[in-house]
Amino acid sequence: MIVCICNEVRERQIKTAIAMGVTSMEALKSELDVATCCGCCEPMVQDYLDEHHQSLEAYQQDVAFATNTTSERAGKLAYAV
Ligand code: FES
Repeated sequence: MIVCICNEVRERQIKTAIAMGVTSMEALKSELDVATCCGCCEPMVQDYLDEHHQSLEAYQQDVAFATNTTSERAGKLAYAV
């Protein structure tokens, strides 16, 4: 699907760039020329960035939880209930 009509940038290109570490709007603009003309695509590109940052944060929380000791986990679960 084409996200940026002005510059013919596809969703796949944007998501690939984000996965490769291009994780800011300015960097995506520089790398892909996305959102550099009319700007209509910028909210959708921002949504992709937000999704990436949210999933990264969830992953980091999972890793932190997994590396805690059993007693630390029990304490967090008791606190969450
Ligand atoms: S649609 Fe992306 S800059 Fe116009």
